[in-house]
Parts: sequence; C-alpha cells; structure tokens
Amino acid sequence: MIRKIPTKNLEVGMFVADVGRAWFNHPWKTKSRHISDQKEIQELIDFGIEEVFIDTQKTLKRTGPALSARDFPYKAAAPQAQTKAPRQVQEQVAETVSALEEELPKAAKAYNRALDTSKALVAACRMNKRIEVNEVQENVDELVESVSRNQDALSALIKLRRFDDYTYTHSLNVSVLSISSGKALGLSDEELKILGMGTMFHDLGKCRIPAFILNKPDKLTDEEFAIMKNHAALSAEILIEQNLQVDDQVIEVARHHHERMDGSGYPDHLSGDQIPYLATICGLSDVYDALTSDRVYHKGMMPHDALKFIYSLRGSHFQSEWVDRFVQSVGIYPPGSVVELNTGHVAVVMEVNHSALLSPLIKLVADPKGQIYPRPKLIDLSSPSNSSTSIKDVIPPKKAGLDPSYYFNLKGAEH
Ligand SMILES: [Fe+2]
Ligand SMILES: [Fe+2]
Repeated sequence: MIRKIPTKNLEVGMFVADVGRAWFNHPWKTKSRHISDQKEIQELIDFGIEEVFIDTQKTLKRTGPALSARDFPYKAAAPQAQTKAPRQVQEQVAETVSALEEELPKAAKAYNRALDTSKALVAACRMNKRIEVNEVQENVDELVESVSRNQDALSALIKLRRFDDYTYTHSLNVSVLSISSGKALGLSDEELKILGMGTMFHDLGKCRIPAFILNKPDKLTDEEFAIMKNHAALSAEILIEQNLQVDDQVIEVARHHHERMDGSGYPDHLSGDQIPYLATICGLSDVYDALTSDRVYHKGMMPHDALKFIYSLRGSHFQSEWVDRFVQSVGIYPPGSVVELNTGHVAVVMEVNHSALLSPLIKLVADPKGQIYPRPKLIDLSSPSNSSTSIKDVIPPKKAGLDPSYYFNLKGAEH
C-alpha cells in the first residue's frame, strides 16, 4: 500500500516508492529504493524533501541485527577446551518431529512437479517450442505456498537432494532460494510469484549457448566468456520472442540477474539502485547455488563457506542489506548441515532459527565417541537451558559417515 509520510518519520528498511521530485531535484539516481541507513534519510531532509511516498508492503522485516564478521566464526573459533570431559547436552525438547519435517512431504511434491517442468522448459527451449507458461506459474504458486507454510522445508530439500542434474535443478534451486529469502525480506505473495517466475526462466538463454562452452571443464577464454555472458540477455529475448503473458519484472529478473552493484556485471552494466531488486535476490541465490553445487570443473563448497564468500561481496557486488537478509534467510548452518558441538557430540541441523543463526534446532545423532544414537533427540540450541552448548565446526557428511537426509521425514520426496 502506498502511503505519504513525513520524511523525518522514515525508518531503515522502509521502501520509498517515490520521493515526489524530478530526478535532478533529489539526491538519488532513482526515485525509489529501500532505506538502508540513517544517512539516506538525512540526505532527503537536507534536500528539503519534507514528504515521501512509501510502499508499506515492501518494508524489509527486521529479522535480526545486521551481520558482522563475528557471525562467521567456524574456522576462526577459538579452540574449545577439549580437555574437559564432554558435558551432557540438555535434552529439553521432547518432540521428535519438527514443523519443517511436517511440511517436507508437501514441499517434496511441489519440488518434484517443478523439476519436471524445469526439464520440459529446457527441452522446449532447445527445440524452439512454445513454453507452457501456465504450467510454470502453477508450479511457482505451489512453491510460494510451501514457503508460506514453512520457510525452510523447500530449502532443506534442495540441500538434501543433490543428485539430480544441475542443468535442471539449478533454475529450480535458485527459484526456491529466492522465494524463501524474498519471504524473509517481507515481499508480498504477488512479488514472490513474479520472483519465482523470473528465477525459473533466468538461465533459459543458456539453451542458445554452445554446449562445449557450457560444459567446458577448464577456464573459459575471453572470447568464450563473452559468448557465455550473452545468456542473460538471451533469456529475456526468448520470453519476449514467445510473447508470453508474464509481468515485465519477470523479464527484468532474467535480463539483469548478473548485474552487480558496482557496475561490474552484465549485460547493461547497471549499478546501485538501477538494478531491479528482484534481480538482486535472483543474483544472490544464483551465486549461492553455483558455489554449493558440484560441477564438472569444481566440487561444491560447503554452504557456510559459500555464505562467507558471498559475505565478502557485501558492499561491492551486492548491497550490504540484501546480503545480510540473504544470509539470515539461508542460515549460516542450513538444515541438513552436519555439525560438531563444543561437547563433542555430532548433530544434524534441522531448522534455522532466523533470529539466532548460530543456534539452530538440531538432532543429536552421535555421542563424543562417535556412537550413533538409535533415537536422535531434537534440541533447540536457542533455548536458555542449552546456552552453554554451541556449534564448534561443520563436518562434511561423508567424513562423519552420515547421510543427513536419513534424519528428515522425506517420505514422498522420492521421485
Ligand atoms: Fe545466469
Ligand atoms: Fe544461473
């Protein structure tokens, strides 16, 4: 809803839809943007702008404090007192099924259907056939509904199901990550559906890039990279060529998902607020999925390492506020992560606690000697009774000899 308010009443996180002035008569490049700090409010006041129009639906939710390097303590963590005898973890939470687990079977159905659609989309594009836009929309609606019921179930699923072909899963994964972080950012269902469509189509243009470039295991030459970069503009062109009945913002997401805040992106070298905000969310999810996926030329990074890398792009490639919200949405320890506690116990992360990222809901799966518990207990690390228990490190599941998917209710997730 658009509301006119005094500039002095603006708050960080609000979305200014219009500063009510011609572009040369206000301090910003565009007339709309999210307020990311007090300085921006002062700039408007200093320009003599006494009233602005805000879009209340786009106000960013304050889900937690801004992140700092302290929020990424895995490697930097001080060595824990290993000499002490392992303490007993308080097993305060009695339930064995979390809210996320309840949503997983429904999320899996939506995911599997969308994966089929993603495959059909690539096939249609390769054969120059018409895209069934209604089918994509139906799938995206289901994804948005699942995220509305539980923000993390679909995200957990894409982490636990890493065996499908990247060509088909990538767009769907980017869609899920984007919808989920868009939800955390306070976007409306309508915006989430547009974002879901844009992300499903974002790499469509790759069907017109030669396979030897797409699948090249070695570094691309400058010439090859220039060809590869055409895919974003081609994605938008295909949507326009087919005259699909989609919102203009869907086409914008496809065209601009590789634009970067400092103008170093492509195809139009947009910078700052020139980049559509939905394209920014797609860009963040795109980088995260590319880094965490196994490809012909690299082994996927652990999620927390990928987030650390994305955090290093804060303020250059992506606006700080968006990076913070993205990390808060994905969670520093996403569901499915295998972790070692300071007590020596091994646990599987079940749910992100979005207001205390270092204290997720976990299942205790092995004792400090590596003995697997037959009936793993659910523990809420954010509970005051567990305040002395913390995550010490993340362990690759293979190294721990564990399949984290075993600890989730994945019935219905088989394809
Ligand atoms: Fe792309
Ligand atoms: Fe992509």
